[in-house]
Amino acid sequence: MSEQAPWWRDAVIYQVYVRSFADGNGDGVGDLIGVRAHLDHLAELGVDAVWLTPFYPSPMADGGYDVADYRDVDPLFGQLSDAEALIADAHGRGLRVIVDIVPNHTSSAHQWFAAALAAPPGSPERARYWFRDGKGDNGELPPNDWGSRFGGPAWTRITEADGTPGQWYLHNFAPEQPDLNWENPEVHAEFRDILRFWLDLGVDGFRIDVAQGLVKPDGLPDVRVGEPDPLRGNDSLSFMDQDGVHEVYREWRRVSDEYEGRIFVAEAWVHDPARLARYVRPDELHTAFNFNYLTTSWSAPEFRAVIEESLAAMARVGASCTWVLSNHDVVRHVTRYGGGAQGVRRARAAALLTLALPGSAYVYQGEELGLPQVTDLPESVLADPVWTRSGHTDRGRDGCRVPIPWSGTQDPYGFGPDGSKAWLPQPDSWAKLSVEAESGDEDSMLSLYRTALRLRRDNDELGRGSVSFVDMEESGRVLVVRLGDGHAVTVNCAAEVVSVAVPGLPGAPRLLLASASGVDWAAGTLTLPPDTAAWWALG
Ligand code: BGC
Repeated sequence: MSEQAPWWRDAVIYQVYVRSFADGNGDGVGDLIGVRAHLDHLAELGVDAVWLTPFYPSPMADGGYDVADYRDVDPLFGQLSDAEALIADAHGRGLRVIVDIVPNHTSSAHQWFAAALAAPPGSPERARYWFRDGKGDNGELPPNDWGSRFGGPAWTRITEADGTPGQWYLHNFAPEQPDLNWENPEVHAEFRDILRFWLDLGVDGFRIDVAQGLVKPDGLPDVRVGEPDPLRGNDSLSFMDQDGVHEVYREWRRVSDEYEGRIFVAEAWVHDPARLARYVRPDELHTAFNFNYLTTSWSAPEFRAVIEESLAAMARVGASCTWVLSNHDVVRHVTRYGGGAQGVRRARAAALLTLALPGSAYVYQGEELGLPQVTDLPESVLADPVWTRSGHTDRGRDGCRVPIPWSGTQDPYGFGPDGSKAWLPQPDSWAKLSVEAESGDEDSMLSLYRTALRLRRDNDELGRGSVSFVDMEESGRVLVVRLGDGHAVTVNCAAEVVSVAVPGLPGAPRLLLASASGVDWAAGTLTLPPDTAAWWALG
């Protein structure tokens, strides 16, 4: 890509889930000192930037996505000076830093919410949130039928200062996460100021939590309780993705444009690519996670369809795509793709497909080690509010948040200082998945990621440029994707070896990297073992 292209259009960004990355002080919880101490891992891996999940003061009702103070660091994670030092250290290694911003809701421990509870109905303090009188003869029923993302109603009734049952407030997530009212100019002003606080501190961008949820529909109309979950890729719930939200992002873009090279990435679970593209129009956000890609099942035609649709939708607004396979909210993709040896094989192939596609790519901590979902955590350690709010029917997201194994043969595998246990137990089988163990193994997932990222960095057509799919007899099982003029990525999604004649490609392709052994492309015929991908230089 030309030198003028902004860094974020093709950056590889590593997601650090701070509480599970590395523990610097031995309390069992990852922290900013731990992240600083392991920046070399990221530099060696070859990523361009790091996204840090929320580290702000918080009662941790939702792992820190319940923010009590947007301009400080929770003592659990360190102090503000640690954040500053981390930004400086990362920049010193050529890594950019993206922080999480949570504008849909505050914590119920935020001073605004405390002030709202102390103030009467109709007060300016309550107008920063969504307080409403209840329905029913005595206001005993919630104002509408919205359900919380974490289970149960999206409304909680408060007790007024005089001790009487009072109004209800809206929380699309846990009751400890009251939704902010983005119709209130004070909320806009506050967040513009928070953005500037972190921009002035030197961060390179923001990941916007629940970006599609800020603006609520007029009159807060009823929907249908119990219908599919808006965070899992179904945007049929009418209170999400309201048109008015785009005005917020135009305003935020004007703020970021006052600085050089700073970006936003939207966490917007919006299913329709054309609707998602509205978030990345030229005067709005820079990028938005492509969750349709994340949720695609292991199928060549489905991958092709989602890739073509995504690229076309983003191109229409001049934006780049943002590819993502896992994050701290979803089942790790080794497990989604079938688990065990098959899941690992597919995850290796998926890494090569993802990192070849033009656009930016996110790597969720541990995916470079091939970590699976931990599905057998004891109930006593489950910390995700989903577990309690679902009445113990949904184990929640802790299984993808188990602390990273760094070294050694038993827990905490170098996660924290010797003797300190991690906040979630790590499986015995993870000794062979540690950074140390995988660093010495050229067939490991870590070695694959390191090599892929080096090749991508050195090669203008990997992760950048144009994409065209080659039509051929085996298109139902195999993808042959031409990258620019001189490269291709090929993927066999079938459980058998496939050999296929590939029409229309020049010369003798040279293998650059394969996710498994046994690939071959000679005399016009491509051979790929089951669930295998490869990168090629076209002769
Ligand atoms: C975050 C979740 C969080 C939720 C509420 C999300 O989409 O990624 O981890 O629970 O927002 O803030």
